[in-house]
Amino acid sequence: MLRLFATVANGLEDVAASEIERITGRSVAIGVGKVFFCGDEETIFKVNMLSRTVNRVMILLHHDRLDDISLDKIYSAAKLLNYRGIIDPNQSFAVRARRVGTHNFTSVDVASQVGQAIIDSYLKERGYRLRVNLDNPDIEFIAIVRNDEFILGLNTTGESLHKRHYRVYNHPAALNTTIASAMIMISGWRPDESMLDPMCGGGTIPIEAALTARTVPPGYFRMKDFAFLKFRFINLKAFDEVVSRTISAMNHEYSPIYGMDENGRYLEGAIMNAESAGVRDTISFMLGDATRLRNHLDFSPRYVVTNPPYGIRMRKGRMEPFYRGFLESLKEVAEGSTLTLITALRKKFLRAAEAAEISIVEKREVLHGEIRTTIFKCII
Ligand SMILES: C[S@@+](CC[C@H](N)C(=O)[O-])C[C@H]1O[C@@H](n2cnc3c(N)ncnc32)[C@H](O)[C@@H]1O
Repeated sequence: MLRLFATVANGLEDVAASEIERITGRSVAIGVGKVFFCGDEETIFKVNMLSRTVNRVMILLHHDRLDDISLDKIYSAAKLLNYRGIIDPNQSFAVRARRVGTHNFTSVDVASQVGQAIIDSYLKERGYRLRVNLDNPDIEFIAIVRNDEFILGLNTTGESLHKRHYRVYNHPAALNTTIASAMIMISGWRPDESMLDPMCGGGTIPIEAALTARTVPPGYFRMKDFAFLKFRFINLKAFDEVVSRTISAMNHEYSPIYGMDENGRYLEGAIMNAESAGVRDTISFMLGDATRLRNHLDFSPRYVVTNPPYGIRMRKGRMEPFYRGFLESLKEVAEGSTLTLITALRKKFLRAAEAAEISIVEKREVLHGEIRTTIFKCII
């Protein structure tokens, strides 16, 4: 049994924990931007292949709180570990570090201390000096210092899972795919219900919904691109079995999913992305104005999941009337539906919702990259 953790956008830890519990059947503990669980090799393969909400899956090598945390203490903790079962002498490695809190050292210092500790430990244990390769390492360690907490993990994923590899068109304000999937889960939508994203941009939300409806695992698009494929200590036969089980469970039923945008160029990009993801025939894309929905819809969507502009490209003063116009237009066509929406303009959205007499049933703060956003769930 291995101790594992997965990284997730801050604010979505509970959503990721529930998803991993569903995937693995094991209980999951919640941290900040991380969730912790236990499992074997198959758990690593399954979470990497199937999770729609996590960014990376790590083997937890060390987790401790260090009084008066310092680079020396970090070095000592990392040097005590045994790396002989993890890296072969001819494999290269890198350490990536993240640091949160007030310290008299930087994340670069942490990476370099942990790297030195790994080299020194391996030299002592096996008599080999390991090679560092920062650009294309065989093995990647993640060192996280959060206040007095020190975590050392082994990256089993490689590049973050939010990079789904189906995206051939990049919208200038594209939503992170793992956040889009978490919003779909928060919304409560089930694939036999209708769903609309009326401001779909490059199509992330409808595409993630369509992949969910057709039970296409997100890992399907990167099956040859997981860090664990370079691990010499893992039996990859179980991975082949996970892949064939998940592929044979794929469902080709269609669900009523709709994507709309007022910008034809973005819509063309969304169609290219949907084609690349193999779900073009599951989504109806339409050109239209989200503040005039009744001009475009001949049905009443049960679920609306959307990522409207944050006002970075639009003048901020126009955003509150815009949100209000959208909510009032939605009320005309889909009274009683559930709206799940992400915005960086929390106060403006709250005022617009109050003016449009929309009740908010859930709100949570989520870090979208560097942007502090709120996901609202409302009954229209
Ligand atoms: C933040 S972006 C959505 C990005 C999208 N979630 C993605 O991942 O690519 C907001 C989108 O809203 C669209 N938009 C703005 N005003 C609109 C309106 N009145 N009706 C429909 N779409 C609108 C913009 O064209 C833009 O594509």
